[in-house]
Amino acid sequence: THVVTENCIKCKFTDCVDVCPVDCFKEGPNFLVIDPDECIDCAVCIPECPANAIFAEEDVPEDQVGFIALNAELTPVFKTITRTKEPLPDADQWNGVADKLKHLER
Ligand code: F3S
Repeated sequence: THVVTENCIKCKFTDCVDVCPVDCFKEGPNFLVIDPDECIDCAVCIPECPANAIFAEEDVPEDQVGFIALNAELTPVFKTITRTKEPLPDADQWNGVADKLKHLER
């Protein structure tokens, strides 16, 4: 599967959504996750993310490994999103900010 990691939080650019052939993205208030049971590992979403937040599971950086379980955990909680929409208002300011996990809304 592919995994959405920390830098998505408070950005949620959603460019990843339009290119997904299997509609496996799920949306929360300020973060997206990938449904690990639906993702087909096509990888087309990776270069679309302006926040470079998406990785193949085997390429997730060491300090982001917890996001593998978090994507699975939040998949049934979040709602399916199939169309790209406006990013969160301060997305550009939050892009690249460290330690955003504490800002995650469920
Ligand atoms: Fe998040 Fe990047 Fe998609 S910021 S919503 S993973 S385009």
